[in-house]
Amino acid sequence: MTEKDFIPKSYPAQVEQGEVTWQSPSNIALVKYWGKLENQIPANPSISFTLDSCRTTTTLKFKKKQQRADNFHFDLSFEGEKKESFRPKIQKFLERIDPYLPFLRDYDLSIETSNSFPHSSGIASSASGMSALALCLMSLEKQLNPEMNEEYFTRKSSFLARLGSGSACRSIEGDLVVWGMHNNIYRSSDLYGVPFRDEVHDNFKNYRDTILLVDKGEKQVSSTVGHDLMNDHPYAEQRFRQAHDNLDKLKKIFRSGDLDEFIKVVESEALTLHAMMMTSQPYFILMKPNTLAIINKVFKFREETGLHLCFTLDAGANVHLLFPEKEEEKTLQFIENELKQYCQNGQYITDRVGSGAKKLA
Ligand code: DP6
Repeated sequence: MTEKDFIPKSYPAQVEQGEVTWQSPSNIALVKYWGKLENQIPANPSISFTLDSCRTTTTLKFKKKQQRADNFHFDLSFEGEKKESFRPKIQKFLERIDPYLPFLRDYDLSIETSNSFPHSSGIASSASGMSALALCLMSLEKQLNPEMNEEYFTRKSSFLARLGSGSACRSIEGDLVVWGMHNNIYRSSDLYGVPFRDEVHDNFKNYRDTILLVDKGEKQVSSTVGHDLMNDHPYAEQRFRQAHDNLDKLKKIFRSGDLDEFIKVVESEALTLHAMMMTSQPYFILMKPNTLAIINKVFKFREETGLHLCFTLDAGANVHLLFPEKEEEKTLQFIENELKQYCQNGQYITDRVGSGAKKLA
């Protein structure tokens, strides 16, 4: 499929007004997306676990204008309050998706959104937020074109979500989602995320993710600035190649169920992401002392217990702890007894792998 396939020709139905609600999860990348080309095309393929309880719920209300306007008209509220600071991001999103949803200027839109996780937790809400909004807009398009099939609906939702925030395209459907062209991954695309369809060993079913909130402050580096650091980065080419190789490795690992090999790939990806930031110009150190303290404790725990707890990081100081369902009891006890002390206000979130977005109304 190409971008052109997402430009609708005409709409057979008329829709005056209505509302829809979607709930969409966050996701955690195992192979990281870091670096992008124009139009949100990723510089390398990535794969993520979809999360379950870290979600954004978005209601979109729409009412047809008497006359089509030049501008988008939208109201925005977050957790029940008007949220002006989100406007520029949404405005930009609507501008980007305008060619693919030509009805947008025909409607007054009202967007109400809330998160299941604490707002100031430092957890990226762009993946869950942008995917929920993309799905709501697609539900409106489906009303205008009732013949639309499910596959097109899902693809295009991911395609639009990507234009809002790259990683958001991995939050639509599936427990493991690949985004970005990869030679050995069936139907993978730079334009949208696709569920990973290969064999996955039971070891990886219901995998756990506990998110340790080390630093709940504002992001030190915005994702746009971050991705830009990969332009002219001395190690960029090598890094992009490595992401392809790591996806090949993970493909084998998912089939064999080899948890030790899984840990090697996942932790190396996290550290490579941070190494890229430390070796770019300008350079950033996004880990905090407590991030490192946690990582060292994880190494020690693994050595002492033989269990398969591992960490991954996004572009910040918080730590995602991944572990198999079977090892939950001992691992959670360890987190509560030994790692909680490194979290701001002792806060952490226990989550697990989920299956994607849900339409609530
Ligand atoms: C480190 O998806 O937030 O979390 O496309 O600019 O919105 P934009 O970037 P974003 O980048 C996420 C980067 C990452 C790794 C990942 O999720 O793959």
